Amino acid sequence: MNQLSDRINNLATSATLAMAAKARELRAEGKDIIGLSLGEPDFNTPDFIKEAAIEAINQNYNGYTPVDGYVELKEAIITKFKRDNNLNYTLPQIVVSTGAKQALANVAAVMLNPGDEVILPCPYWVSYSDIVKLSEGVPVEVQTSIDTDFKMTAEQLEAAITPKTKMIWYSSPCNPSGSVYSKDELRALADVLQKHPNIYVVSDEIYEHINFRGGHFSMAEFDDMYDRTVTVNGVSKAFAMTGWRIGYIGAPDWIARACNKMQGQITSGANCIAQRAVITALEAEPSKIKYMVDEFKERRQLILNLLSEIEGFKTNEPEGAFYVFPNVSAYFGKTIKGKTINNASDFSLFLLEEALVATVTGEAFGNPDCIRISYAASQDEIKEAIRRIKTVLG
Ligand SMILES: Cc1ncc(COP(=O)(O)O)c(C=O)c1O
Repeated sequence: MNQLSDRINNLATSATLAMAAKARELRAEGKDIIGLSLGEPDFNTPDFIKEAAIEAINQNYNGYTPVDGYVELKEAIITKFKRDNNLNYTLPQIVVSTGAKQALANVAAVMLNPGDEVILPCPYWVSYSDIVKLSEGVPVEVQTSIDTDFKMTAEQLEAAITPKTKMIWYSSPCNPSGSVYSKDELRALADVLQKHPNIYVVSDEIYEHINFRGGHFSMAEFDDMYDRTVTVNGVSKAFAMTGWRIGYIGAPDWIARACNKMQGQITSGANCIAQRAVITALEAEPSKIKYMVDEFKERRQLILNLLSEIEGFKTNEPEGAFYVFPNVSAYFGKTIKGKTINNASDFSLFLLEEALVATVTGEAFGNPDCIRISYAASQDEIKEAIRRIKTVLG
């Protein structure tokens, strides 16, 4: 008998992790799978950051840290927010967490009461919806399309707001669409929110540095949004530090204090060595990691060129992150190699089994017509993966 709580029984398994597990299974059977499903840079953590971690071990940083992070790290985060984002935060407004994922889970837990609605422009990062549900919030999906570069318009936001709306969560650059909201686009959303003073914003900026058009803008930069916005960031993507598990928020101090309290009962402070290393990472100029961004930019062009040669893939031009999110609905209803493809999940599974290429169904991101392909892989792997896809689709 299933003795588990409704909470866990109702929680979806992360689709990206599930796809990675399936790809691992097939690899174990000897199949040569190319993995384009994970949101993880294929670079090593830069040496200057690794050296800072080794130094921290030798200096005996081994005890519990303050729950909300070392003061020196919080100071480095404050400097980073000022330098890169023109945002002024003070120490009590910063909380360091075990990845941006925990930062988001903290915010949901401290902000949502049962039934509170959270607007999620689709496609959204795979975990938003389940993090919200875990805190008994109700995700409200707003469908966007390739025609608006997968961005939510002011009209759509206005139409989605109800008396129960508590928050809006989005990422820019966006995982999975790569879209970047411009200052004007954010202003249009902020103008709608001026009529609804009780709605708060989570602006997830974890892909901030992986931006090919330049011009990152934070919602909290608008004076009238600063007190209503939680700015989420972290080092996983830009610094190739996914496993180090450090993320952070800059927020109104009452929200930050609540996150601190929540974290104090669940995980305590994030890993001490990783925190010391991140001080060095954030103190470095963004130019130190530009070589990775440049490489992602080249790969983006490569994959866009290759995909444009395959019939039935309709793709926007991502301006950031390291994903493409093609609409593949032209294949729905077709039978290829004896397999009928009815939706994006069938399509993604078909690519895994027949082309031996792992992607993720768009359904996991709230868009049933698309699949997400990560180009955090070598150019040779990308070329071979798309060649295989093209071949199986005939
Ligand atoms: C948009 C977005 N937010 C947050 C995260 C979580 O990052 P972290 O590794 O810091 O927990 C990810 C990771 O995939 C992401 O894509």
